Amino acid sequence: MATAPAERKSTNSWWQSPYDRWLVTQDVPVFTGYYVEDLRTIELGWWELRGCPGAVLNLVGHQGVTEAHILQVPPGETIPPFRMATEEIIYVVEGQGIATVWAEGHPQINFEWQKHSLFRIPVNYNYELSNARGDQSAITLHVNLLPMAMGTNPSEDYFFNNPYVDTTQLYGNQAKFYSAAAQPVRLSGQASFSSGARSMGFEPGAGAGTLAEDRRSSGSSSMRWYGNFFPDLSVWDKLEVGGGAGRLSYRGGIFFPGSAFSTSLMVLPSRRYRAAHRHAAGVTIVGIQEADGFVLMWPEGGDYLVAPWKEGAVFVPPYHWYHMHMNAGSVENRQLRIRAPRPGANPSADPNRTIPFFEQDPWIRQKFEEELAKRGLTSLMPEEAYTNPDFEWDEEWLKED
Ligand SMILES: [Fe+2]
Repeated sequence: MATAPAERKSTNSWWQSPYDRWLVTQDVPVFTGYYVEDLRTIELGWWELRGCPGAVLNLVGHQGVTEAHILQVPPGETIPPFRMATEEIIYVVEGQGIATVWAEGHPQINFEWQKHSLFRIPVNYNYELSNARGDQSAITLHVNLLPMAMGTNPSEDYFFNNPYVDTTQLYGNQAKFYSAAAQPVRLSGQASFSSGARSMGFEPGAGAGTLAEDRRSSGSSSMRWYGNFFPDLSVWDKLEVGGGAGRLSYRGGIFFPGSAFSTSLMVLPSRRYRAAHRHAAGVTIVGIQEADGFVLMWPEGGDYLVAPWKEGAVFVPPYHWYHMHMNAGSVENRQLRIRAPRPGANPSADPNRTIPFFEQDPWIRQKFEEELAKRGLTSLMPEEAYTNPDFEWDEEWLKED
């Protein structure tokens, strides 16, 4: 469902949120609907707030939790400095350049980004993005918590003209805030801290709230890599097998220390898919390499919506819509998930959170095999998984070819 810019709506409807009311004052194309086919080719328009071409993605699944937007940095240019009282996660869709980040009265920190880089701008830090190339635009995807945050305080001044900044983030003991060397933390009941992780402020029993929360949400042992700048997610190779029965995939444990967001890199080898699941809203999912597959999304009892899974595609599953990721191509598919806090969500209380293969609508398998056949490929899904409720998934399956 390609999504044209939404028509402007009245700003005084009682049901509109503070974010909705703010958004209609912005002179930028706003995309609604369920997904965007390719961030690299959608219509952009001049956005006065940012001083560059852009577009806002206010997709159905963002549902007042998160917002995403695209900025275009023209060839050889630097877009104006910007700061906002909510953190931003930035993924580079296209191009290469330099980010400059600073707090007022403090030194500027620079780092170079490129296509497939991922980085975080902390709350209220000024930042500029410069395009290092003279022959092509850079395209960046920004995800933030503005819809949820504005629901607690609708003051635009608070968000866009707020001098408060926690200088310990860039200028405290995290002297290498934007180091490209992510720090490993092994989570297995008791977290195992490297010296690098300690330098980022992770100390057992030292109030590392993020880690404590991560341990609660983590099942088995897993490695997490903490940083604020990941140079190229398309070649990130610190992957582990995870996901459980019917949900196996490779996962990259990419995290931002102290961030409200958590991110997840999911890598699925060709000709496979994962069982459907559902959860709360606000997870922005991006295809980050030359992937060739599709995504199914549907509300319980409702029709299927088919979205592309390819480079530059974005989809955001709406609240409690089932969704599944199908790699129908001949290469591995990667996707980046940018997850927001989801207050009130309790996935473990949902007995129908996932749909096992043996209970799956036969149409799904048929659709998958049809898509493979179009490409001259055949499925690597284990036949027995469709019939045997006790089928045991073996992670070696991910290596089959
Ligand atoms: Fe999901």
